[in-house]
Amino acid sequence: LNNGLALTPPMGWMSWERFRCIIDCQRFPDECISDRLFRTAADLLVSEGYAEAGYEYVIIDDCWLSKERDRNRRLQPDPERFPHGMKQLASYIHGKGLKFGMYENCGPTTCEGYPGSINHLQLDAQTFADWDVDYVKFDGCYVDIKILDKGYPAFGYYLNKTGRPMVYSCSWPYYYVEKGKKPNMKKVSKHCNLWRNYYDIQDSWAVVQAIIKWFGENHYEIDQYAGPGHWNDPDMLIIGNYGLSLDQSKTQMAIWAILAAPLIMSNDLRTIRPEFKDILLNREIIAINQDVLGIQGRRVKKEKDISVWIRPVTPVGYTHSYAVALASNRVHGDPYIYSVKLNEIGLINPAGYKFKDLYGDKECILYPHQNLTVRINPSGKHFCKVTLVRVDFKLKSSSHLQL
Ligand code: GLA
Repeated sequence: LNNGLALTPPMGWMSWERFRCIIDCQRFPDECISDRLFRTAADLLVSEGYAEAGYEYVIIDDCWLSKERDRNRRLQPDPERFPHGMKQLASYIHGKGLKFGMYENCGPTTCEGYPGSINHLQLDAQTFADWDVDYVKFDGCYVDIKILDKGYPAFGYYLNKTGRPMVYSCSWPYYYVEKGKKPNMKKVSKHCNLWRNYYDIQDSWAVVQAIIKWFGENHYEIDQYAGPGHWNDPDMLIIGNYGLSLDQSKTQMAIWAILAAPLIMSNDLRTIRPEFKDILLNREIIAINQDVLGIQGRRVKKEKDISVWIRPVTPVGYTHSYAVALASNRVHGDPYIYSVKLNEIGLINPAGYKFKDLYGDKECILYPHQNLTVRINPSGKHFCKVTLVRVDFKLKSSSHLQL
């Protein structure tokens, strides 16, 4: 969507994967979907350094609404859990230098059964603008895809008509994929700033793997639609929760960077362990994700349960620089040694490349006919930023450098 927003993939924090539809604030005061949860998230994004690293949007997902609209049919938040109203919460979040996102659904109800927008598209768009919302996640539960084909452009039109800049996040293509149908991606990218392509992420490596596999296999259907203002969305980062090991967390971060994916965390910023936080705050990997060219990377090779991913990034020279990720799906055995010749994965510049490991500090220089050799942990990964080297570098005879 060409509205001047989301020129790089949006970064932020969202409640859904970790906090779901917890509404019992008596029993779970720290976890329920409430004013307090989002103020705390805003506080921690700033005080723990996430905001400085680029995480900007605080996004309320489902279960914020009252069961009924108000007398004027306007949306209203649950009065007990959001006693100060949304405009005040927005103001608090803005006061922290952050931006404010909200969730609605293009059907009669939200996925969790709260009032939906389908018959009030214009009114709801205006309500979000009146509440100073900066980002809307618009879901598509419980409604025919023919309705979605009308509803998504219409709601986008009304958002735009409010005059308030709001990032527009859609789930439109997902509801096609779910029914085994092909979405019209050109239309989706024209109307939305980002969109969910595939099933919901869950707090498990199996689900992260399934998402990675889908994006690896279907890139030719989607990657041309990614770019400044419009992004494919493989769903939230779940790093720091219960399901992923440290290596698996590194893999999620690496592949999301390669995919130019939105980096929207859903985790508990109060309890996240430091080594997981380090992954989320890795500046070099965030820089890959946020690269201004906005070219989505792809899986270029898969053998022996190792997949190789490449994304062209700045600086642009004779050819691009690249980010290269090697990920393992192996579950048995010891760390696995894997080699791939650079010219087999498209790195053909005779001047060679400087490799830097973004999860370590190793560097090396390699030429197109040489092997990149890495040792990859089971379900782990290696991540390298490849940059061009100057031509006057003299090649050593070794053809098997180990990174
Ligand atoms: C759908 C979406 C999720 C979340 C829930 C809320 O499943 O894909 O991301 O928003 O609805 O009910």
